[in-house]
Amino acid sequence: MHTPVVATADADARVMVLRAFDRATDTLRFHTDARSPKCSVIGDGAPVGVLLYDKEAKIQLRCRGTGRIERDGPIADAAWEASTNFARRCYLGDGPGTQSDEPSSGLPDWIEGQQPTNDQVAPAREHFAVLLVTLAEVDWFFLSNDGHRRAVINMNSGVGRWITP
Ligand SMILES: Cc1cc2nc3c(=O)[nH]c(=O)nc-3n(C[C@H](O)[C@H](O)[C@H](O)COP(=O)(O)O)c2cc1C
Repeated sequence: MHTPVVATADADARVMVLRAFDRATDTLRFHTDARSPKCSVIGDGAPVGVLLYDKEAKIQLRCRGTGRIERDGPIADAAWEASTNFARRCYLGDGPGTQSDEPSSGLPDWIEGQQPTNDQVAPAREHFAVLLVTLAEVDWFFLSNDGHRRAVINMNSGVGRWITP
């Protein structure tokens, strides 16, 4: 479940790397470019769906929650600090969705294929953001030859109930 699909209310969806789950607040953390279209859609609070599937465990999780983008603050700062310079490099180039006349990574030529230094990646910090999705409901689905099983869990009350698959 490392690369879930993150869906927004504008009927768009994209794969993102799940970085962390905070059990205390039921919040998923993703890293992203603050200039990407999804950040404008989510802003500081919007409905977000997260779809996860573990093929081996045969479990699907359909999560609904509220997303928010944080460019500054302790969570974004800590996430940036914990990132490698190689990961930080992604935020150095043109913003996602920028038009180009030829296939392009959007990164400046001088950085292509290189492990950048701390000074070189410092300007990328202003483009970095975390997407935090606080879960309200999780729809758990277990695929089984003996009969599938499905439950809906309300994350606020902690109460789950079985429903038919
Ligand atoms: C395997 C995989 C992992 C990805 N991980 C991320 C990620 O962690 N964060 C991110 O912003 N985009 C990630 N992307 C790119 C997004 O799917 C998407 O193309 C990009 O964020 C632009 O999305 P937007 O136009 O909806 O804002 C990943 C793509 C793939 C294929």
